[in-house]
Amino acid sequence: MRVLGLETSCDETGIALYDSEQGLLAHRIYSQIAVHAEYGGVVPELASRDHVRKAIPLIREVMADAGLTLQDLDGIAYTRGPGLVGALLVGACLGRSLAWALEVPAIGVHHMEGHLLAPMLEDESPKFPFIALLVSGGHTQLVQVEGVGRYTLLGESLDDAAGEAFDKAAKMMDLPYPGGPQLSQLAEQGDALRFKFPRPMTDRPGLDFSFSGLKTFTRTKILECAQNVELDGVTNAVLAHQDKADIAAGFQHAVVETLAIKCKRAVEQTGVQRLIIAGGVGANKKLRARLREMIEGMGGQVFYPRPELCTDNGAMIAYAGTQRLLAFENDDLAISCVPRWPLTDLSALDAGSVST
Ligand code: KG4
Ligand code: ZN
Repeated sequence: MRVLGLETSCDETGIALYDSEQGLLAHRIYSQIAVHAEYGGVVPELASRDHVRKAIPLIREVMADAGLTLQDLDGIAYTRGPGLVGALLVGACLGRSLAWALEVPAIGVHHMEGHLLAPMLEDESPKFPFIALLVSGGHTQLVQVEGVGRYTLLGESLDDAAGEAFDKAAKMMDLPYPGGPQLSQLAEQGDALRFKFPRPMTDRPGLDFSFSGLKTFTRTKILECAQNVELDGVTNAVLAHQDKADIAAGFQHAVVETLAIKCKRAVEQTGVQRLIIAGGVGANKKLRARLREMIEGMGGQVFYPRPELCTDNGAMIAYAGTQRLLAFENDDLAISCVPRWPLTDLSALDAGSVST
């Protein structure tokens, strides 16, 4: 089965073509960074308008990359939620209408299920069951995965998501949007141990997270280190480059260690020895290295998608949609998108119907 995937939940237009026999045939991502950069964050209305402009040309490019035409499609998958509703509606209307015109089935995919199944797109993919650490701009969750749609939430963030914390800390340091990758780049030049950042919620049992305290700690350190500089008669508080890099490194180290402590606990608690990391923060090099070292040290295995499939992309939507279409799920013609959608509300698929 050949399925076109459309991802438009936030600030990336992701289009991909997945074949249940041959794997990922083609995928392209158009990032809206330049559109939102001057505002310091995603402007929902501008995101929707840019998806409208980019989606169809991108579909043409993906079909051309694969050497196929729209008539070769057996189904269409689009992101139904969670995300920005206006942005979601662009992909949903386009995907649903295209499927109607082509007389093929369409399916609305859960964005986080897409992230969670993204490691399946790699040659070395995990077998069920596994523990998934989902770390994106909107979610930080630990999920026990027994199969497609068989999800048990083990823990989640009580406040900011890990990616959101990265972005907010970066903003405090005047780093350009999107903050996470910028902060992590700056952290490479810093001393992670100079400032003793807390490890929130690790001194009590449980698998929930909290990242808002790290934000407050970051602000305090910035204020402590900032020096008054006078220029043309105006005094400004300025952070020296090394102080900024040390704060960035300390912050990143604290997030990575906190996530690592909780992942270790999840593996010990469930006895499931396979861990996958997915979502935008999963592209973070320090996090990938630290979790690999820790889980392999415990005799377990770690899987993650290549960095470009950690952040938002159409391939993960095409893959997840294919699994559901193969199980004969098929959305009706009335299009519905949802800003919030608990992962645990999804229907469970039979183990036999999953393609790898
Ligand atoms: O999954 P994603 O692309 O979009 C959402 O579904 O939210 O995740 C985006 C988040 C942003 O907060 C971004 O700053 C963060 O992932 N991110 C990173 C890195 N790359 C992306 N955070 C830390 N280090 C990175 N290398
Ligand atoms: Zn995402």
